This record gives sequence, C-alpha cells and structure tokens, in this order.
Amino acid sequence: MTKRLKKRGFEILEAEEGSEALATLAEHAPQLVVMDVKMPGMDGLTTLGAIKKDHPEKEVILLTGQASTEDGVAGIKAGAFDYLAKPVAFEHLLGKIRQAFEKIERIHEQAQEAAFRTKMEKRMALAERLAALGTLAAGVAHEINNPLAIINESTGWVKQRMERRSDLPEEWRKTLELALSKIETSVERAGRITHQLLSLARRSPTEIREFDLAELAAEVGELVGKTCKEARVSVAVDQKSPKTRIWSDPNRLRQVLLNLVVNAIQASRTGGRVIVTLDNLNNEMLFAVKDQGEGIPKENLEKIFEPFFSTRTPGQGSGLGLSVSKGILEELGGRLEVESRLGQGSTFTVTLPRRPAMASEPEDLGRMALDSQKKIKKLNSGENPF
Ligand SMILES: Nc1ncnc2c1ncn2[C@@H]1O[C@H](COP(=O)(O)OP(=O)(O)OP(=O)(O)O)[C@@H](O)[C@H]1O
Ligand SMILES: [Mg+2]
Repeated sequence: MTKRLKKRGFEILEAEEGSEALATLAEHAPQLVVMDVKMPGMDGLTTLGAIKKDHPEKEVILLTGQASTEDGVAGIKAGAFDYLAKPVAFEHLLGKIRQAFEKIERIHEQAQEAAFRTKMEKRMALAERLAALGTLAAGVAHEINNPLAIINESTGWVKQRMERRSDLPEEWRKTLELALSKIETSVERAGRITHQLLSLARRSPTEIREFDLAELAAEVGELVGKTCKEARVSVAVDQKSPKTRIWSDPNRLRQVLLNLVVNAIQASRTGGRVIVTLDNLNNEMLFAVKDQGEGIPKENLEKIFEPFFSTRTPGQGSGLGLSVSKGILEELGGRLEVESRLGQGSTFTVTLPRRPAMASEPEDLGRMALDSQKKIKKLNSGENPF
C-alpha cells in the first residue's frame, strides 16, 4: 500500500505499532493516519485515543479485521474519520483518504477564515477607537490653542516691556530672558502638537496649488536649522531632477517633510548627515529622507505609523508625526514607505502624483490647464472634482 500510495504522489511515513506511530506523529506532523486496529504493542484503538488527545486535528482511518465491526464503530466514536474492513481494496482506501483530506482542507479554510475575521474585527475596533480618540484629541487641541495664543502674546508683551526698561538689574534681565525663552520654546512645541492633533482628525481643508517642491525642501531645511545645530546634524538636499514643480497642498506637504526630517535628525548621532533626495519619475514626484541613525527594529516597522506610538522618552515625542504624515499623503494620493537597517539608518520615501489627476493624453494644453483649474476650485470648496 505504501508503494502504491507513493506512486499516487502521497508522502508516506511508516510505523510498526502504536507508540512508534505516536513518536513519528510528534516528529514529522503528518496530516492523516491510516492504521490497523490489531497491532503488536500499543493497539489501534489505544493509539487513536492518544492521537485525538494530543492532535485533535489529525484524521485517522482505521483498518479493522473482517469480523470486527465493533472495533470500527468504537473507533468512530473515539474520533476516527472512518474505518475499512480488511482486505481493503486499494481504490476504496484511496477514495477514503481523499475524503479525509478534503475534510482537513475544509477545516483549515474555516480556521483561516475565522482568524481573518477576528483580525478584521480587531482592526475595525481599533479604527473606531482611533477615530473617537482623534475627534476627542482634536477638540482638546482646539481648546488648548486659545490659551496658547494668550501665553504667546503675553510673553511677547513682557519681552517688549523689558526691552524698554533700562533700569533693570542685569541679573534680573538674564533670569527673565531665560524664563521667557523657555516659555517660548514650550509654547512652540505645544503648538506643534496641537497642529498635529488637528491634522489627525483632518479638520483643516486641503488647498491644492502649483509650487516647487525644491523650494519647500529648502524652507524645511531652514525651519530645522536650530534643531540641527543643537543636535550637530547636517541636512542636505540632493535634487536629482530639475523638474520639481508639483500640484499639491504645500502646507500639508511641509508638515510631512518636517515630520520626516525632524525624525531623521532625532535618530542621527552627533555629526550625522540627513539627505533629502528629490526626484521625478514619469508622472510621480519622489522625495526621500535618509539618515544614518539608529534604524528601526523589524517588530516596530508596522507600529511606527500608528498614532501615539513613540519610542522617545516621554515629553520628547507624541508619536503623531508619522501617522499624521501617512494620513496627509493618503489624502493627497501619495504613499509613504520605509526601509530601515538597525544601527545603519532609515529611509522614508514619499511618492506623490505630479498633479491630483493626470490627463491621459497630452492633448490641448490650454484646455487641460482650464480643466485642472476647475478641478482645483472644486477641490478647494470641498467638492469631489473627479
Ligand atoms: N528616521 C527614524 N529613525 C529611527 N526611528 C524612527 C525614525 N522615524 C521614526 N522613527 C520611530 O518611529 C516612532 C514614531 O515616529 P513619529 O514621528 O510618529 O513620533 P515621534 O517622533 O516619536 O513623536 P512626534 O513626531 O509626535 O514628536 C519614533 O518614536 C521612532 O521610534
Ligand atoms: Mg516624529
């Protein structure tokens, strides 16, 4: 039988009796067992009990002696797939084996389906929770913006008053200046966080216009100048193509680029280099932010895009940068991808369409421009232009 089954493409493992079968089962994990009831050593029914106890998913076909139907019935009660009375016709056994495999496959599919459903349910629950959290966070952010503005204004006012007074003792002046600069830095940081929270809940409308991505990159380079100096990290722009004009939302892209560059600086060691590459591929614009910093462990690669996931010390990172950036890019029809090597650095690559929607044929350029303008107007007023 072994020979004939092998010929039909089955992989067969043989065992002399029950305990050997159990050892084979534990070591090689076959899916199906075909077994005599009468065996030397551990008999078939005892072996069946042991198999079903440790491996309930394995199917067992019993081969009983001609006159021992009871054994077969007992076997089915104990969980055997079926029994065949000896002598067994090969084709009959083959049919049974095929049926058993069909059952195994069905159960496997059901298990996969159930696992998939559980995963989706978990994901949906998470999405719902995040949406609720986003709304709440945006509400809080909005409320915090008002007192922040007042603190900011008052700090400016105190500064102005101080500058006008020449009779302040030097020691006082120094202490006050230090305190005011700390307030300003903190207000700026809090403002950045509320800004991110508001973007997370997509409260601000998209504004599409034509602009130069290279100019935006240069602007971001200036914005991070102070952070770079403090961390002693340099940021350079590598423009691979002269064509860097794009139709998109400059304010949102600035936020994305800033988030990526700040992350790269934070991950870099002293003396490290961050490179922003701009390139043009067919109808897509590409910008990549590359660092030679700490890298990201594999198990975190998925998590880093979740809101509030951060490995920075509390108070240093809110864990919003990447999730906000990803959301913005999805809205603008782009993608955000990451490649990272632990200890060697990471590259975050953004791909964007050069226009919100490309005309398929370069026909009448004037008409095309007019069409885009109409679309953009619609986009800006919140309508679907396509
Ligand atoms: N360039 C990078 N190199 C190494 N790790 C990174 C890099 N960029 C992001 N990460 C990891 O991803 C996490 C999430 O990043 P994200 O920008 O979303 O939040 P954050 O930087 O921690 O806080 P926030 O940006 O809100 O101040 C970071 O805490 C860090 O662990
Ligand atoms: Mg960040």
